Amino acid sequence: MANVLLGATGSVAAVRVPQLVEALAASGHAVKVVSTAAALYFFDPAPLRAAGQLTTDDDEWPGRADGARYARGDAVPHIELRKWADLFLIAPLDANTLAKLAVGLCDNCLTCVWRAWDTARPVVLAPAMNTLMWQNAFTKRHLRSLAADAGAGHIPGHLADDALVQQINDRSSTLRIVGPITKALACGDTGIGAMAEVPDVVAAVQSVLARAQAA
Ligand SMILES: Cc1cc2nc3c(=O)[nH]c(=O)nc-3n(C[C@H](O)[C@H](O)[C@H](O)COP(=O)(O)O)c2cc1C
Repeated sequence: MANVLLGATGSVAAVRVPQLVEALAASGHAVKVVSTAAALYFFDPAPLRAAGQLTTDDDEWPGRADGARYARGDAVPHIELRKWADLFLIAPLDANTLAKLAVGLCDNCLTCVWRAWDTARPVVLAPAMNTLMWQNAFTKRHLRSLAADAGAGHIPGHLADDALVQQINDRSSTLRIVGPITKALACGDTGIGAMAEVPDVVAAVQSVLARAQAA
């Protein structure tokens, strides 16, 4: 049983967020969700909001659009979430947020959690994007950069995508990538890029937690 923070980004695979929350809870975890604004386009946030499980940028900056100001003592959600979470799962991880994570940009609550993350704690990333986005050179560059930061050492640039994911997972004790799968994508293309199936994402969480607890 762990506190699992589920980060959701603006891939069409965010339709699976409610299912992911349910599966993680069924595995005995306490679950909270931090969502980008784009991800909210793909699932109904109301049940998570009602259950007090959801944090969005509006919670990070309450009333900002109406001229409200920060007052000393106000909550800082990205730090509270980081302290609460034993594991950070970002599923789906879209190309835009992957790029932000790799270079350290933190312009929303989710990426602020990432930037403030205690790097001794595990993270699981489940990328999801169109085939050509996945095969774009940026993707490999960004994954290799994250891997180096997560203690995986130098990962050769010539590796095929699945070998790259395998090497990262073998070499880093804190970073686990759940590679995308091949199927008919929502955009109409068929190819690699769909988010891994929910049970496989949850299995990766379980395995990383088991490894962290054994260490
Ligand atoms: C219908 C639709 C589906 C999308 N699906 C994906 C996707 O699967 N993967 C991806 O990387 N971007 C996808 N995008 C683009 C992202 O939503 C866009 O890059 C957005 O800026 C991401 O913001 P975020 O990273 O802050 O969530 C999609 C956009 C739309 C409109």
